[in-house]
Amino acid sequence: MAAVKTNSCRVSSLFFLFSVFSLSQSLFNGGETFRRKLEVVLNPGRLSPPGGDLLHVRAVGDNDTLHYLFCSQGAPTLLLVHTNTTTSTLKVDWDKFLERNVSGSLKVEPESSIVYSKAVVVSRLLEYDDVNDTAEATSDLFPPYDLQNVSWSRMNLSGSSALLCSSALNNGSLCLQLSVFAEEGRDQPWPRLLHTGNSSQLAVWLDGVLPRATRSRFLLELQAAGGANPLNSVEVKRSIDDEYSPSVFQVSQWMSNSSEVGGFVQWRPVAYRRSSPALEEVTPCRHSSPRRPSDEAAVSAASGLIKAFYDEPETFALNVSFGLSGEPFYNSTRFLRWTVLVGVGAPPMDTFSPLVLAIMAVGLGTPMILLLLGGVYVCIRKRAAPSAAGYDPIN
Ligand SMILES: *[C@@H]1O[C@H](CO)[C@@H](O)[C@H](O)[C@H]1NC(C)=O
Ligand SMILES: *[C@@H]1O[C@H](CO)[C@@H](O)[C@H](O)[C@H]1NC(C)=O
Ligand SMILES: *[C@@H]1O[C@H](CO)[C@@H](O)[C@H](O)[C@H]1NC(C)=O
Ligand SMILES: *[C@@H]1O[C@H](CO)[C@@H](O)[C@H](O)[C@H]1NC(C)=O
Ligand SMILES: *[C@@H]1O[C@H](CO)[C@@H](O)[C@H](O)[C@H]1NC(C)=O
Ligand SMILES: *[C@@H]1O[C@H](CO)[C@@H](O)[C@H](O)[C@H]1NC(C)=O
Ligand SMILES: *[C@@H]1O[C@H](CO)[C@@H](O)[C@H](O)[C@H]1NC(C)=O
Ligand SMILES: *[C@@H]1O[C@H](CO)[C@@H](O)[C@H](O)[C@H]1NC(C)=O
Ligand SMILES: *[C@@H]1O[C@H](CO)[C@@H](O)[C@H](O)[C@H]1NC(C)=O
Ligand SMILES: *[C@@H]1O[C@H](CO)[C@@H](O)[C@H](O)[C@H]1NC(C)=O
Ligand SMILES: *[C@@H]1O[C@H](CO)[C@@H](O)[C@H](O)[C@H]1NC(C)=O
Repeated sequence: MAAVKTNSCRVSSLFFLFSVFSLSQSLFNGGETFRRKLEVVLNPGRLSPPGGDLLHVRAVGDNDTLHYLFCSQGAPTLLLVHTNTTTSTLKVDWDKFLERNVSGSLKVEPESSIVYSKAVVVSRLLEYDDVNDTAEATSDLFPPYDLQNVSWSRMNLSGSSALLCSSALNNGSLCLQLSVFAEEGRDQPWPRLLHTGNSSQLAVWLDGVLPRATRSRFLLELQAAGGANPLNSVEVKRSIDDEYSPSVFQVSQWMSNSSEVGGFVQWRPVAYRRSSPALEEVTPCRHSSPRRPSDEAAVSAASGLIKAFYDEPETFALNVSFGLSGEPFYNSTRFLRWTVLVGVGAPPMDTFSPLVLAIMAVGLGTPMILLLLGGVYVCIRKRAAPSAAGYDPIN
């Protein structure tokens, strides 16, 4: 009889634990996961165009479509177009597109279905000699690597991810890898940004590029172009959980300051000094505040995709600088990798993972259970004790 009782006890407590775990799982995954259907086409309607490739990923949701376009005609550019139908399509007039002098040669149709669009251009790589180790790029800048004039490899596709490299940049290579996602998750290498089915990830890395000074540091210039609600402010948020990107407690979000939910560019303010980094190879990075470039026409001229899609885009640009004063210089490893998320809607926010929650539950729950058990034990002992043998009233 007693054996049966303890068994059923064990089963019910197991069941209880399991249900708590699955409840926390579903709470923090938002229940059912949202999933898009991805269609990937390289150079739709044209074989190996001269001057660079155009990747098109169509991500179809329940009643909307996201078009991701990634292009190496000129400076590498990612264009994101959100439409409110599942039937919108891309149309490219290749002859005009390759001439790069008129807008309207690349369209998403029907145009009335476009809810939002934004393009991000990786425009320049800047290098400076940080002689006094201040990590301020005020003077001693070397001539920049203008990424529109760099010769890019053909895009290498694997699944819904594309690799673009320039392999002759001062004896090294500069690579960009775009990954488009169907659903929520995280990529393996740090910073393991949380992505959703409404975002894509761009990793940029420098490998073996010879520095032009022993104390060289680098900056990357990004430009964001689009219609209404330009990306004109960067917000830095703190997070309390660094489980996925060790020692990083901040996330930067480049968005529009208007209240309308449009799109975002999000990153952890770190770069990595090795391809499989250890903790000490994490290097902090900073951003400048977004500002209008002095010459907006030059932005369109630098990127074939922006020229083709936008008529008169509103543009904001910022610099991301790698390394702080006192940090090792680029020459120490000759490698730098930085990752950014580009998407529509609200930027994804990290919450505590089920693992951390379980640890917290055990950490906080165990003393409570011990207290409870202790109380029960005392109660039982009191009841079981024969009252006759107890204390008699003094009087
Ligand atoms: C998408 O379509 C479904 C069913 O057609 C509808 O219930 C839902 O509200 C729609 N969602 C949006 C965001 O329009
Ligand atoms: C674009 O360039 C082509 C050839 O370079 C030229 O024939 C055409 O007239 C130009 N179009 C415009 C609108 O400038
Ligand atoms: C899609 O968006 C356009 C422009 O915002 C709007 O006119 C149209 O009614 C929308 N269509 C649907 C199905 O929501
Ligand atoms: C570095 O420090 C020296 C001495 O303080 C100063 O003369 C020089 O201008 C500084 N160089 C830069 C680039 O700031
Ligand atoms: C890159 O090419 C553009 C257009 O050909 C030119 O105007 C610009 O000066 C070049 N930049 C560099 C750094 O050579
Ligand atoms: C494309 O990438 C795969 C794996 O990422 C690699 O094995 C292959 O050599 C690459 N192809 C080219 C042409 O770079
Ligand atoms: C850079 O590349 C050139 C040609 O490929 C080679 O001759 C030279 O030795 C390389 N320099 C270094 C420092 O590796
Ligand atoms: C992604 O976009 C779809 C359609 O607009 C929306 O229903 C969904 O909530 C979005 N997901 C996230 C995580 O923002
Ligand atoms: C980079 O460091 C190496 C030693 O690690 C040194 O030989 C080389 O000269 C340095 N490069 C430059 C450009 O100073
Ligand atoms: C957004 O920023 C612009 C200047 O960059 C400013 O004029 C505008 O008032 C701001 N809007 C809001 C809602 O803060
Ligand atoms: C990025 O930094 C360089 C060098 O300091 C500067 O010339 C350029 O204007 C900066 N770009 C932006 C967008 O702030």
